[in-house]
This record gives sequence, C-alpha cells and structure tokens, in this order.
Amino acid sequence: MTVSRSKIWQEIWDKKGQKADVPLHHVDGFDLLDAEQWDYMVGQVTRPLGLKDGEKILECGCGAGAFLASLLKKFPELKVTGLDYSQPILAAAKRNVKGDFYHGDMTDLSIFSDGQFEKTISYSTFHYLSSEGAAARAVREMVRVTRAGGSVFIGDVSDLAKREMALALRKMTHQNHQRVSSANTDHLFVPQELFRQLAGELKLGIDIIDQESFDLPFYDNAKYRYSVYLRKNSGRKG
Ligand SMILES: C[S@@+](CC[C@H](N)C(=O)[O-])C[C@H]1O[C@@H](n2cnc3c(N)ncnc32)[C@H](O)[C@@H]1O
Repeated sequence: MTVSRSKIWQEIWDKKGQKADVPLHHVDGFDLLDAEQWDYMVGQVTRPLGLKDGEKILECGCGAGAFLASLLKKFPELKVTGLDYSQPILAAAKRNVKGDFYHGDMTDLSIFSDGQFEKTISYSTFHYLSSEGAAARAVREMVRVTRAGGSVFIGDVSDLAKREMALALRKMTHQNHQRVSSANTDHLFVPQELFRQLAGELKLGIDIIDQESFDLPFYDNAKYRYSVYLRKNSGRKG
C-alpha cells in the first residue's frame, strides 16, 4: 500500500512538533531565519491582505503558531484561530499563542461554519498536500469559511513552472541537513492556473505574487514559490 504524501509529512511534523526551547518559527521549519527576518517576511507577504486589528482570522496548517504570533505583535486585538493536523505541533501553539486551536485537516473545515472568518490564511503548507485535488478542496473550504467581503491568503506555494529549478536548489541546500525521515519526502508543486480556475469558478478576485517579488533575499525558497490572494465579493451593489 502506498502511503500518501500528506500522511508521510504528518508523521514528520509530529516529530518536529516535539522540539523544545527553540523559537516557534524554527519548530515550524524556518530554521535558517532569525526572529527579525521571520517578522519581516510575515509583514511583507501579508501586506496585500489588508489585515485590520480586531478581525477574526483562521490559519490552516498553523503549526506551532509562529505566523499568528508574528501577526499578533502588529495586530494585538486579532481574534486568532488555528488548525493543524499534527497534535504535537498544535500543542506548542496552544502553549505559546493566545487563540483557539483545533486539530484537523485543512481539506475538511466542517468544524467551522460558512463565513465565520474575515481572513483565512495558510502559509507554507500546500506543498505537503497529496494532490492538486486536495489543494482545490482546501481552497474551496477556505473560501467557504470566509465571509463575503473577506479575503483568503495562500502563501509560499511551490510553483509547478519552477519545479526543476526548485529540485536543483533543494538538492544543494539540503545536502548537509540531517534527514528526519527515510520516506519519500517530495513536495507538491501546484500550477498557478489551478488558483485562477478556482477564482473564475467561485467568482473571486485574485492576485498572484511571485515570492521573489517580495524583498526576501534571506529566504531561498522564495525563488520558486508564490502567494495567492483571493477576495470574496461583498455582495453589495454600487
Ligand atoms: C512549514 S509549517 C508552517 C506552519 C505555519 N503556517 C507557519 O507559517 O509558521 C507547515 C504546517 O502545516 C501543517 N499541515 C500540513 N498539511 C496539513 C493538512 N493537510 N492539514 C492541516 N495541517 C497541515 C503541518 O503539520 C505543519 O504544522
């Protein structure tokens, strides 16, 4: 029986979630960034989202809560909800970040109601999904739980158009890394077209920004990743 990519990565995140005494963004896999670089990256990629203090925000694949913790520094009144499929890493978020945290898979957000959040985000998670079908399910769910007039942000998605370059780069940068698993830990690369098609079908506004266009010289993955911003029509006329 073949084990799905998503399942293989879940076991890896369970192990990573047990790390203690390191910054939250290191638990979340951004080991090569210092605290200042991390906050700077979060600020850059969320600027197009137009976040406002006090809004209700859901992060799918929140990990140890590093992204939400960084947003809370800038917007202390945000009402934060996080969801992750790894219990150990979620426990780290519960310990460290003020918010509501739920165990679950981001391809099924049925624990949340339609339009419950003003902003729904997911950062650096889509490459762990098993297939484009799973990615489309996650997008549809994220859009469903976002209210009319709200926005969805899916960041740090590996670009299918840049797959060869990404594999060459990862081979170089990961050659000295200690492997956390002997399983096949490949990534899902998603074509930008998938998001454009979904935006057309669901009647959403869409912007896609290559991660390289942000000022992130300290983040190698930016060379082959992109961020997607979807806007749900408010339904008001005029
Ligand atoms: C690279 S970390 C990013 C964490 C957080 N978004 C951040 O930016 O700090 C990826 C996270 O996505 C979670 N994840 C991956 N696939 C998931 C899925 N299908 N459902 C829920 N969580 C998932 C992993 O458990 C892990 O915590």
